[in-house]
This record gives sequence, structure tokens and C-alpha cells, in this order.
Amino acid sequence: VRIVILSDAVSVAEFAAEEMAAAISSKATSVLGLATGGTPVGAYRQLIELYKNRRLSFSEVTTFNLDEYIGLSPDHPASYRYFMNENLFRHIDVQIKSTHIPLGDVSDLIAECCNYEARIERAGGLDLQLLGIGTDGHIGFNEPGSSLAGRTRVKTLTEQTRRDNARYFSSLDEVPTSAITMGIGTILEAKRILLLATGSNKADAIRAAVEGPLTTSVPASALQLHSATVVVVDEAAAAKLDRHDYYRRSELEGRRLGLIR
Ligand code: GLP
Repeated sequence: VRIVILSDAVSVAEFAAEEMAAAISSKATSVLGLATGGTPVGAYRQLIELYKNRRLSFSEVTTFNLDEYIGLSPDHPASYRYFMNENLFRHIDVQIKSTHIPLGDVSDLIAECCNYEARIERAGGLDLQLLGIGTDGHIGFNEPGSSLAGRTRVKTLTEQTRRDNARYFSSLDEVPTSAITMGIGTILEAKRILLLATGSNKADAIRAAVEGPLTTSVPASALQLHSATVVVVDEAAAAKLDRHDYYRRSELEGRRLGLIR
């Protein structure tokens, strides 16, 4: 796993946007896996800027989001569909029919999950999956205890996750208790993965994910099994990494050898 430690959240956003833009530039029909939460918003802003400056087009891009709350309709202001429309899709030229987010308000949840997997497969799989990380180490909504081989399915949210996400709702009671999420098995099939984390509240989760044992108790630790994952963190999120200096040196060495930009 490549660990990139940058000074602040703005640099993390720039790095992520550049990686995503490069993916689209080299393959206009890229299939991108997208994430919600506060962390990727800066990267989405940068991508919107690139589009507005006519340096990037999303017209042939297909997107699949990681997850959606169960019980919220797509027009609910706290739904992930609403979040993506507001923070990215309506500002760029992506075709809305090419943007996919599980539907959390359908009667047949199992069919929706199977369908979602089938749509990813039909699209040819994910070229690049963007991830944030929960304070409990979750990716998507794969909470601690999730199978490391899981597919898109329904997961119950932990109370910690509900509390963390309560800021998007008017009260904790309104936070849904479950969600549809791509599984860790689904995520690990992405050709490349980019996990972003910023802020000191992510330092424990990042340490456990990157340097801890591979365990269902820290779902993000499954990324240790993926051969093309880049973890991009700011100094605050990197603060508890034992091998901090080594990761810094590896980046310098990679650049010196012309292996990375
Ligand atoms: C939610 C999402 C995750 C996201 C996490 C962290 O639970 N399902 O995909 O990574 O929040 O969010 P934030 O970036 O706001 O810390």
C-alpha cells in the first residue's frame, strides 16, 4: 500500500482530483467509484473547477457510489443521491443516467443490491474507487465485523457511525439505522483504490487500517490485500503512524527513481 502524507486537507484534495482527472484523461469512459462524507468534497470542488476551465469532461464517465441510507428517498437532503447531485453531478457534464447510487427506499432491498452488483459488472468493473474512512475503520458502510469478501448488501450502522453522521440530520433520531453498501469484496475488485483521510479524528483508524493486522474489526485493513491502493492523508491523520518517516522516504525514493510523479 502506497502511503502519501501531505501537509493539509487542501493538498489531499488536489492530489485526489489530479489522480481522478488523470484517470479520465487516459480513459474517457472511465468507471469511477465515488464516496460521500466531508472528506471527498474538496476533491469534488477541484474536479468542478477543472471542468469549468474546460480541462476535463465527464460526458463519457460512469459512476457508482459506495452506499445509500435505507429509508431515505433520493430527494431527501441527507440522502447520498442528493449529496452527490449537489456536490458534484449538477456542476459537471456527467450524464445523470450514467451515475449510479443504490436506491434506499425500495421495497425489495435484496433485489436492489443484486442489481447494483450486476450494473457494476455490466459497466466493466470499477477503474478507480475513491474511499473515505469512518472513525471506526469502515469503508463504504462496511462496519466492523463485515466480511472481507462481502458484496453489495444491507448493513446495520454502528451507533458510532450514526453519531458521526448526525451532523447531516436535524437530530440523532433521524439518522437511519441501516444502509445499502458495496461490499469489501466489491471494493477490492476495483482496479485502483484511492483512500483519503484528513484530520486528527481519523488518526486511529488510519493507523489500524495501514499498520494493524488484517481484520474484520477494521474493515479498511482489507485494503492491505489490494495491489494498487494509495492512501492519501494529511499530517493530522498520519500522526499515529509508526512508519511515518519511512512512508515519506519511500515517496522521495519513488520520485527519485522516476516511478511516481
Ligand atoms: C460515511 C460514508 C463513508 C465515509 C465516512 C466518513 O459513513 N458512508 O463512505 O467514508 O462517512 O465520512 P467523513 O469523510 O465525513 O469523515
